[in-house]
Amino acid sequence: MIKVAVLASGEGSNFEALVRASRNGALDAEICGLITNRTQIPALDKAERLGIPAAAITPKTFSQRAEWDAAVLKALQAWGAEWVVLAGFLTLIGPKVLEAFSGRVVNIHPALLPDFGGEGMYGRRVHEAVIAAGAKKSGITIHLVSAEYDRGRILAQVSVAVESHDTAASLAARVRDLEHKHYPRVLNDLVHGRIITD
Ligand code: GRF
Repeated sequence: MIKVAVLASGEGSNFEALVRASRNGALDAEICGLITNRTQIPALDKAERLGIPAAAITPKTFSQRAEWDAAVLKALQAWGAEWVVLAGFLTLIGPKVLEAFSGRVVNIHPALLPDFGGEGMYGRRVHEAVIAAGAKKSGITIHLVSAEYDRGRILAQVSVAVESHDTAASLAARVRDLEHKHYPRVLNDLVHGRIITD
């Protein structure tokens, strides 16, 4: 079974969707562990409830960012991870992890990149920006992770209409549903070589 590690910083609803998909067969891979960059976040509670190994590896407890990068890599290797899947992870992935998992680090973004992405564009802010811009469509983007926020090669996008009565909250809820449905499906295609990343 192909092993996938998930990295999350908050709720972990996508993490949970991936674990459920791996257990019901929609995702033919094992979620081998969860890494977070913070302690005391709902994603860690979900990991415990779901019986998935978890490690909180917080950047602020390392004097150098390179040490944090090495610690993340060590945890991934200890679990035997083959793919690294970001699901709401808010720290930039370091060069050691990117090199060791070249073409096998992916992220999901709750809008249609290249628009509405980049540093600081996460959570509610993304949907507020989409509505403020008067965009007719939003959606999800699954992309390779590179050394810059939200700039790696786009692998898959699914769009949804922005309605005139949408608020950031209502749009966020529809986009979140899309994420839970499509992230497991696209990841399944990725890990089984049906989408080529290198
Ligand atoms: C998702 O909207 C994802 O696109 C973004 O962060 C959010 C994470 O949500 N990168 P959750 O923690 O999976 O609930």
